[in-house]
Amino acid sequence: MGSPDRPPGQPPQSRPGDRGGPPGPQGPHEGSGPPKPKWWLPPPFAFLLDEPAELVLVLIAAIITGGAVCYWLASYLTGPLQKLRTATRRLADGDLSVRLGGSLGNRRDEIGQLGRDFDRMAERLDTLMTAERRLLRDVSHELRSPLARLSIALGIARQTVNAGCERALDRIQYESERVNELIEQLLTLTRLEGGIEGSQKSLVDVDDLLGHIVQDADFEARGRGGRVRLTGGAGAPVKGVAEMLRRAFENIIRNAVLYTAAGTGVEVSVQSRPGAITVSVRDHGPGVPEESLVAIFRPFYRVDEGRDHRTGGTGLGLAIAERALRAHGGSVRAANTPEGGLVVTAELPV
Ligand SMILES: Nc1ncnc2c1ncn2[C@@H]1O[C@H](COP(=O)(O)OP(=O)(O)OP(=O)(O)O)[C@@H](O)[C@H]1O
Ligand SMILES: [Mg+2]
Repeated sequence: MGSPDRPPGQPPQSRPGDRGGPPGPQGPHEGSGPPKPKWWLPPPFAFLLDEPAELVLVLIAAIITGGAVCYWLASYLTGPLQKLRTATRRLADGDLSVRLGGSLGNRRDEIGQLGRDFDRMAERLDTLMTAERRLLRDVSHELRSPLARLSIALGIARQTVNAGCERALDRIQYESERVNELIEQLLTLTRLEGGIEGSQKSLVDVDDLLGHIVQDADFEARGRGGRVRLTGGAGAPVKGVAEMLRRAFENIIRNAVLYTAAGTGVEVSVQSRPGAITVSVRDHGPGVPEESLVAIFRPFYRVDEGRDHRTGGTGLGLAIAERALRAHGGSVRAANTPEGGLVVTAELPV
């Protein structure tokens, strides 16, 4: 490769047709002058043409350095976006305490600005949600005392008024019981919003828990000509708050019993796989419009006030179930079955 008649560092007299050399003005000029080298490098690197091994080493070093620079640049740009993505997902999952803070460094560019905007948004959401929960909890607490007094007054009234007032008093009692139940549910919901960290946890036998709920639901369903059946089994216990898990599954199963068509059954099946159990509750009722499949887990959401009136519910059952399962690290979702009816599937880590 090197040129014997030229000291190292001298650029060769290139000719048109030479690879790498600057083109000459006269066009092809074959057969004249000494043979010219095929490669040319600027003077500071020309010695490499005489040392192929060094040239290879320099090339390898250049590739490694280039790769390292590209890797650093890619991480510099995508690393913070990855952190932002993780934080957004946590926020969407209900973790309002998530903040990026200094994890993006002191960047002054658009990514840094985006991080600070994210933190401001999370802070605002957290404040609003906390205020809303506190209001709900305080109102519910405050309503308990007048309700208790109302019930005592009702008892006294029953002893003193004449028989003609009985129906009105029955109605007052029924309505005050409903308000009482609503307050109880609201307090459960606000408690669950704060998670179950401070609650007493134990190893809960899910098979036993579901067995009892299904037994009670079956008793209720028989009155309408239906049945509730339990198949499969969890096999392993779940660490959590038994009362919360009971409420979660009871709300889902009771809905199925209430909404399944008269004379049809409800199937509760439990499957276990490594690290998790799945409980699905399937009925043969009207199902839920596709656009409401997620919304039914929101507090006070009812698909159709007219249709749901006969169930007498308040629209808090599934919201409580969703929060209870989420507080245990699980999840719940609903889907319509092709044959008609709803299947609600809950997943819990074991
Ligand atoms: N299995 C089901 N089939 C059809 N619709 C359902 C079913 N389960 C729930 N829904 C719909 O979702 C809504 C919300 O259910 P959710 O259990 O939260 O409230 P609810 O049953 O109306 O009242 P409660 O607070 O007493 O449970 C219901 O009003 C109903 O419209
Ligand atoms: Mg319900």
